[in-house]
Amino acid sequence: MANQRRFLPRRLTGVAVVCVVALSAGVRAEDRAADAAIGRGQGDVAQPVVAHNGMVVAQEGRAAQIGVDILQKGGNAVDAAVATGFALAVSYPRAGNIGGGGFMVIHRANGEDSAIDYRETAPRAIDAKSFLDANGNADPQKSRESALAIGVPGTVAGLALAEQKYGSGRFTLGDLIAPAIAMARDGIAFTDDRAESLPNEHARLARWPSSAKIFLKADGGALSPGDRLVQGDLADSLQAIARDGPRAFYDGTIAEKLAAAAHAAGGVMTVDDLKDYRAIERVPVRGSYRRYDIVSMPPPSSGGVELIEMLNILEGYDLAHDDEAQTLFLMIEAMKRAYADRALFLGDPDKVQNPVARLIAKSYAAAWRATIDPAQATPASDIRAGGNSQNEGRNTTHFSVVDRFGNAVANTYTLNFSYGVGLVADGTGILLNNELDDFAAKPEAPNAYGLIGYDANAPGPGKRPLSSMTPTIVLKDNKPFLVTGSPGGSRIVTAVLQVIVNVIDRGMDIAGAVAAPRLHNQWLPDQVFAEPGFSGAVIAALRARGDKVVAQRPFTSANSIMVTPEGFFVGAADPRTRGALAVGY
Ligand code: DON
Repeated sequence: MANQRRFLPRRLTGVAVVCVVALSAGVRAEDRAADAAIGRGQGDVAQPVVAHNGMVVAQEGRAAQIGVDILQKGGNAVDAAVATGFALAVSYPRAGNIGGGGFMVIHRANGEDSAIDYRETAPRAIDAKSFLDANGNADPQKSRESALAIGVPGTVAGLALAEQKYGSGRFTLGDLIAPAIAMARDGIAFTDDRAESLPNEHARLARWPSSAKIFLKADGGALSPGDRLVQGDLADSLQAIARDGPRAFYDGTIAEKLAAAAHAAGGVMTVDDLKDYRAIERVPVRGSYRRYDIVSMPPPSSGGVELIEMLNILEGYDLAHDDEAQTLFLMIEAMKRAYADRALFLGDPDKVQNPVARLIAKSYAAAWRATIDPAQATPASDIRAGGNSQNEGRNTTHFSVVDRFGNAVANTYTLNFSYGVGLVADGTGILLNNELDDFAAKPEAPNAYGLIGYDANAPGPGKRPLSSMTPTIVLKDNKPFLVTGSPGGSRIVTAVLQVIVNVIDRGMDIAGAVAAPRLHNQWLPDQVFAEPGFSGAVIAALRARGDKVVAQRPFTSANSIMVTPEGFFVGAADPRTRGALAVGY
């Protein structure tokens, strides 16, 4: 962690200023209640870290340091990302995982880009009716809280594929997993995010004795700061993967235990589902924004397509001015249009046709732009009719890596909810996901993030549920300029959008861009969710244009790296996550 320089970012002054009094007297009562929360402010500042040789920014510090150790031993960004990915499965158990899935976007020093899709797949026994109740209605209990929600995990296959294809060749997979094994075996202090997140999930974890024996005290009570989290079974599972490769996970005793655990809990994932799992290398989705190129995740993520669609719409406006409310307003208009397209068009590209080229075309954005009134919010119902519900999500985790060779990795992976479905497969230490809630259980039935969908994202055997995860690399002259991404369910894509616009158009440094308050619109519900920190004047200006602004606590965490023209890496750990860290050398 040598060479860290910390300074206060520009534009952050005033984040914590309460401006409720600035609102007009005619504000509705519910708006006033929302304003109290919007104006409260986070009080946190981002702390940029500057380094020249390599950097990892992650939501947990030990895992970031483990990645940097690999860089210092001569590893490249992919080696480091794989080591950090396995480490987070131990040190950030709410979202770091080997029982879930995710996406890795890679930019290589030779100018080539790649996207590793290690999204979970639906077991063979899942069909369009799997998440309905007896009356044919979507049953959130089934898709969120039951073992039926478990998707076949992709993380081990994905990290191994990335390493095999794009690692430096200096390390075995076992070398990269070794630090995670040591951490699981020796235990780690029960602090930071672990201490913050576990109490919230106590009841969900306590449902399964196999989970309780790891994440709760022997008497069933909650772990407290000062306790250690020791994960011996997880160490053994990681050891087997380190020794025998992904086969140990997908075809052997671990697979048998995962399938047995799912079955015992009422799920349908079998050893054959695990044996069939494949991570897939895909061509990243590419767009341009002003003088930059955008490289992001294609379907089964909606993220890259939505991001490029929104940027294309915004490219038609000058956003480099001081009218913050107008910039935010235009972003909101772009958001609702892209999210409407997501709902209708996107799904697993191996099962349904995704009109990606059309959605990311500049001409398509121009057509959308023509429907935007710069002075008046378009009601969601004028964009497309649909359901309307809202329910908050839990956690995912993103990390960004750059090395001195010119490689960059953006990786986002998840168990969906915090600690997934809460079930540890007995004897493995592996927490299982509830990713299948990301399907549209029924047309227009909202998932946990309030997202609706139709046939393209209906549940089906072997199908990958549509994701919002948006690991993204912004290039300038075909070299990494910005590496970013975030957790936050449906809020991920708009968080990434705001980081990019904050840097490129609004002239913020990366720490300021990451820390700045975010807002979010996802077409339905027809509301703008605003984090703490916006001024009352900005909120009032959005309302004056017809936006329905409501308060929301922060859900995203955009741990990002920017590369300066001189070749310095500037890392910004998101102050929204306790324990997030940028480590460079
Ligand atoms: O893939 C998705 O879009 C979701 N399963 C991600 C979940 C998430 O980000 C939760 N974090 N707050």
